[in-house]
Amino acid sequence: MPVERVGVSFEPELLSKFDSLIKKRGYTNRSEAIRDLVRNDIIASGTKEEESEVIGTLTIIYDHDIGNVTDKLLHLQHHHHEEIIFTTHIHVDDRTCLEIVVIRGQLSRVKKFSENVKALKGVKHGQLVVTKTSF
Ligand code: NI
Repeated sequence: MPVERVGVSFEPELLSKFDSLIKKRGYTNRSEAIRDLVRNDIIASGTKEEESEVIGTLTIIYDHDIGNVTDKLLHLQHHHHEEIIFTTHIHVDDRTCLEIVVIRGQLSRVKKFSENVKALKGVKHGQLVVTKTSF
């Protein structure tokens, strides 16, 4: 894999602490130690994202005549009752329904709910929009 060289500036005291730390950890050069730190940080921030608290809406369009979708949707909403704030239902025509679900909780749980709903037979389209309550 090709690499790009970057210059990093350190205060002497910080560099000296860094050198003794990486020596203890068995690194033979600074580059590999810095790369590992960067990788760890990227993974940690990814994990934090999945665990972060979000609030959002899931909008779905479904055909209530297909495959017990109404029952299955209700079941999924009860399974996530701690996260769902409210649901609104609009009868669009003879068999098409629009539902907007306002949901709040861990991003991973919110995404799971959204994916499970969208996977139901009868749900034609679904769109999840989330935002954070704190940054
Ligand atoms: Ni309806």
